[in-house]
Amino acid sequence: MGNQRESVHGMWSSRAVFVMATIGSAVGLGNIWKFPYITGEYGGGAFVLVYLLCIALIGIPIMMAEVLLGRRGRASPISTMKRLAREEGASAAWSLVGYAGVVAGFLILSFYSVVAGWALAYVFQSAGGGLNGITAAGSASVFGDLVGSPDQLVVWHTVFILMTTAVVARGVRHGLERAVSVLMPALFVMLLIMVGYAYVEGDFARGFNFLFEVNFSRVFQVCSGEGAQIACRVSGEPLLVAMGHAFFTLSLGMGAIMAYGAYVPDHASITGATITIAVADTLVALLAGLAIFPIVFASGLEPGAGPGLIFQTLPVAFGNMPGGHLFGTVFFVLLVFAAWSSSISLVEPAVAWLVEVRRWSRVTAAFLVGALAWLLGIGSALSFNVWSGPEYQVLGKTLFDLKDFVASNIMLPLGGLLIALFVAYGAGRHMALEELSISRQRLFDAWWFVIRYVSPVGIAIVFLNSVGVL
Ligand code: TRP
Repeated sequence: MGNQRESVHGMWSSRAVFVMATIGSAVGLGNIWKFPYITGEYGGGAFVLVYLLCIALIGIPIMMAEVLLGRRGRASPISTMKRLAREEGASAAWSLVGYAGVVAGFLILSFYSVVAGWALAYVFQSAGGGLNGITAAGSASVFGDLVGSPDQLVVWHTVFILMTTAVVARGVRHGLERAVSVLMPALFVMLLIMVGYAYVEGDFARGFNFLFEVNFSRVFQVCSGEGAQIACRVSGEPLLVAMGHAFFTLSLGMGAIMAYGAYVPDHASITGATITIAVADTLVALLAGLAIFPIVFASGLEPGAGPGLIFQTLPVAFGNMPGGHLFGTVFFVLLVFAAWSSSISLVEPAVAWLVEVRRWSRVTAAFLVGALAWLLGIGSALSFNVWSGPEYQVLGKTLFDLKDFVASNIMLPLGGLLIALFVAYGAGRHMALEELSISRQRLFDAWWFVIRYVSPVGIAIVFLNSVGVL
């Protein structure tokens, strides 16, 4: 295709590569670390159901919107939004979506990298035999020692930022193409085996019911404590967090998918690709839940244990299963890889933009962006030790939690809302129709209805509910 419009940052060599890379971005700590721990905190089934609804009614339609905008703009999200707003005669202010996305990307990477650092540390814990035969109590203390040490956390965080920067500096495609298509399927197989282990050794029925038994009263409740002391209050928070997580896990709302969309070949179908990506991502999260909760219940651990949940439970399984020494090590290596292929999409929008407007090399841009994310990340690392006290908290949240909350639950849905509004009202039907080139008119009409009404209204309702208006 001689007259194909190309991005200056390079192109995916095929649609399949785009799908793999985007699955690489979507599947990460969000699925394996965050999904189980927030599901545990917000009480299970009802939360999972809301999350699944958000994926279907908000996530998938907005992902299609991001990909189509990216491909039409063929540039960084900031430049894409500027260019398309101009072409469509809409306000230049739409480019704020791109700028806000860059800020959200920094905020997310600055805590993501610290958790990825835990996974790195666990590769070595496991390889060194530190998890062999471990008990639940022993596992909690290994985790406690790690997060209690600012030095260790900062070192691992630094290593992870360097890894991310190195790939982005080379160009996303070169750093990624081959590795992702081998390692993501490997992670998937490992998770299946873990679920098998949980089925045999864990309290599978209880774990399964926890994930899928829907108790509607829990949709609007936040509970804490255990057993007879459990105390619940009415709150819109679970809804907000479930919706925020739908954005987080699909990498939506900040331009990451728009940036990846910019490198998609002209005639590749967007709809099928998007659905494949979302289904793969959701499967991985549900498998992670099915692997973890049976072990949580069988070892008497607390589902609401917080961000340390998987790092306290999985080692109990690895430490006591045959071949667990090797298996655990490989698992954490794959987890690091999943985090790595995600984190690069967090900085790609910023790096691509710097290359466009400053004419810097990718290497310079990547290192500058990496340095800033590194600096911001120090605060996240200290949130677990020197800055963990109440005097360092805002609204009862440490800096780590606060960054996650603001970025995931506020900035991403807001970004997604604006993206939906731009596609549906700012640009209009002809652009979407051309770019999606869906052959079945009914399918297009259904998507068009959802992106115009269902997704924006859904996001608005959850926001209004969480501030107590609804
Ligand atoms: N989706 C990734 C995960 O689940 C994290 C991630 C990568 C992300 N890029 C993003 C989240 C962009 C929000 C926006 O681990």
